[in-house]
Parts: sequence; C-alpha cells; structure tokens
Amino acid sequence: MSTVALSALLAISAAASGVLAQSATSSSFVPLASKHFSYPSGIPYQADPDDGVRGTQQGYNLCNSTTEGANSLCQTAFVNHLDDWCVWAPPKPGSTIGDTEGEEVAWCTKKGRGTRIIPAGAITGVQFMKTPGYLQIVGFIDQTKINLQSDDGGGELDPHGADLRGNPLGGLVYSNGFASNNGNNDTFQQVIEWHNFMGSNSFCFKVCDPAGSNAPELCQHVFDRIGVSYNCPNAAQNGTFEYCEGDNQDPPGIYTSNGQVVTYTQPPESLGPISTMPYDPKIPASSNCVPLQSAALFTDLPAATGASASASGASATATGSRSGAAASGSASRTGASSSASATGASGTNGAGALGVSVASTIAGVLAAVAFLA
Ligand SMILES: *[C@@H]1O[C@H](CO)[C@@H](O)[C@H](O)[C@H]1NC(C)=O
Ligand SMILES: *[C@@H]1O[C@H](CO)[C@@H](O)[C@H](O)[C@H]1NC(C)=O
Ligand SMILES: *[C@@H]1O[C@H](CO)[C@@H](O)[C@H](O)[C@H]1NC(C)=O
Repeated sequence: MSTVALSALLAISAAASGVLAQSATSSSFVPLASKHFSYPSGIPYQADPDDGVRGTQQGYNLCNSTTEGANSLCQTAFVNHLDDWCVWAPPKPGSTIGDTEGEEVAWCTKKGRGTRIIPAGAITGVQFMKTPGYLQIVGFIDQTKINLQSDDGGGELDPHGADLRGNPLGGLVYSNGFASNNGNNDTFQQVIEWHNFMGSNSFCFKVCDPAGSNAPELCQHVFDRIGVSYNCPNAAQNGTFEYCEGDNQDPPGIYTSNGQVVTYTQPPESLGPISTMPYDPKIPASSNCVPLQSAALFTDLPAATGASASASGASATATGSRSGAAASGSASRTGASSSASATGASGTNGAGALGVSVASTIAGVLAAVAFLA
C-alpha cells in the first residue's frame, strides 16, 4: 500500500465512522455485524448491497456447486471442526492482506459449500480449540498457496472495519460446532463476532458463540496490531494436528497486573511501531488434546496446479502413515520434506506457541492499517 493510500486511510479512520457509514446507494445503512441471515435458506446473493468509499462487495455469499473451485468468489466461510474450516485469503495470487482485506474470499478444507478449497500440502499444522465461549483454529500454512506473498506479515480480518462493512466487505461466517449447537452438525449458526489473523505463514480464526455472554470481548477486533500471540494465545505447533478442549482465554487486551485487571490500550499508528508490551499473553489451560493424522482430516484438498504441482503429492505422503501412501512414488520428495517438518517442528517449535511476532505484525500493520480493525 502506498504512503499516500496509507495516510488517506488514516485520515479516513480518524473521521467519524458514522460519516463513512453513510452509503452512496442505501439510505438505511446497517453494519455488517448487525445483519442476520439464516443458513442456508436466508443467504442473500450479497450481504452488502452498499457502495461506499471502498466500493461494492467484490464477491458473493450465495455459494453452491456452480461457484465452487479455484475461481470462487464465495464470501461465506465456516469454522466447524478440526477437519472442517476456512480462512479468508485473497482472490488473486501474489497479494497482501493489507491490500486486499476488503475482498478476501473463503478458502476451506471441505467441498460442498461453493468455496475455494485450500491446496494439498499447504497446511502443515493445526490446533482446533473448543472452549465454552468460542472455537479457535490456529494453524501453519504455506500462504503462497492461498495467494499471499511469502513474506506478508498480514493483518486482521473481522466483521467491523472503520466503515462497519467488514473485512472482507459482506463476509459472513457460520458454524455448526458451538456448544449451543448441542452436537447437531446439520444446523449452522451465524457467527456474529469473529476475528481471523492471517500472515507470516500462520493464522488464527476464532469464532465466538453467539449464545455466549461475552462474545464481543473474546472476539475483540481492536487489537489488530499485536498479532496472534496476544489475540489468540495458544500452544499450537507446526507439524501437529490436534483437537483440544480448553478454558476461555482472557479477552484480548485484558490482563492482570499486581492484582489489578488492566485493559491494554493499543497506541495509534502515528506513534510508530509497537516495540514493547506491558504484559505477556497467557495461554489458557487446555485438556483432551487429541492428535490426529492430517491424512484422516483433509481428504478434499485438491492438488496444486502449475508450478507448484509437485506439492500435490506432499499431503498424500505427509499425511499417510501407512505404507500404501508412502508407496505412491512421485510424492517422495515432498514427502521427505513433510516428514522432516513433522519431526523438525517439535524441535524448533517445541517451546512455542504460535505467535506472529510484534515485528512481523508491525510489518503487516504498515500494509494493513485502519480498515482492518
Ligand atoms: C449459485 O450461486 C450463484 C452465485 O451466487 C448464483 O448466481 C446462483 O443463482 C446459484 N444457483 C442456485 C441454484 O442457487
Ligand atoms: C460432526 O462432525 C464432526 C467432524 O466433522 C464429527 O467428528 C462428529 O462426529 C459429527 N457429529 C455428529 C453428531 O455427527
Ligand atoms: C512449518 O513447517 C514447514 C515444514 O517444515 C516449514 O516449511 C514451514 O516454514 C513451517 N512454518 C512456520 C510458520 O514455521
């Protein structure tokens, strides 16, 4: 994003969002986070019919077998189970989150909902966390396979933004996995509060149970500059695929110091990079972490095409613990690196919860700025 665009955005964000919220085509603007659509019968072609400072919604929410695949512009995403989730990522290769936050599309692990499907070999580790208040998927991903530049530090997507139209504009999120769904996979609840951090080859997508008492706090959207480790404190490890249950985290930005509960204030962009933090993120207690083989999880992922076609065998071998999978010849090269990843991961990341560092967050922030919050 150019400096000019950056300062323009900062100026815009400084203006009252109520002004921005006025739309050119609608006299009755409704913030995205206040729109409710039942799934699937209530889904409109586009959740955002407006045309404002950021133009119109770039994709659509009504997604089906016609729209599914590599060219899908579906903007209806899901976070259901360890094997069934999506992230927001750009429609065109070589993009950054900062430049495309308004137009991201859903990239998912499951066929059948009209979205793009994440290419095989892209996902190298995932932790799915179910807590009383939210579902959270934290993962490691080769982000070039979902159209991001390899070095993009990324940023935050959420249903708010300075103009209240969301990032992406009109993006809708559903889940069948909340405690309030009572185990019924056939009913999807609209997720009102969610945040999705993308960048640095990792991500966090947290969806807060609309039946919970503090969904807006747990899925807080204002701490866009402090990354995954503060917004989604976790113990996910590259090379590990696991389902966990755990406690709610402290809401992002809330911490306890000398017995006092304190709310962190994120400094404005104008004060420059955030170089120190007054607290360390606290990883909530978890239990029942069940490790799984990725072969059993991600069976729908298509082979990458073109230059990265060699990646196609990767997941087959990486995920296959059985000799049959390993026997599929052409995958040996990627298979080797993938199994190296699994073992290397515990060595290099053994200590590590996944956190986009403050430094990389800053890089992302320079690109991402105001509309991400
Ligand atoms: C499938 O989705 C497209 C894009 O939203 C829409 O135009 C079309 O009407 C849908 N088809 C059906 C049968 O719903
Ligand atoms: C719901 O789906 C998940 C994973 O997709 C599965 O593990 C679970 O057994 C399903 N629940 C029911 C009740 O079918
Ligand atoms: C995760 O592991 C893979 C395989 O070793 C590696 O290529 C990738 O860089 C790792 N990702 C991160 C974010 O560390």
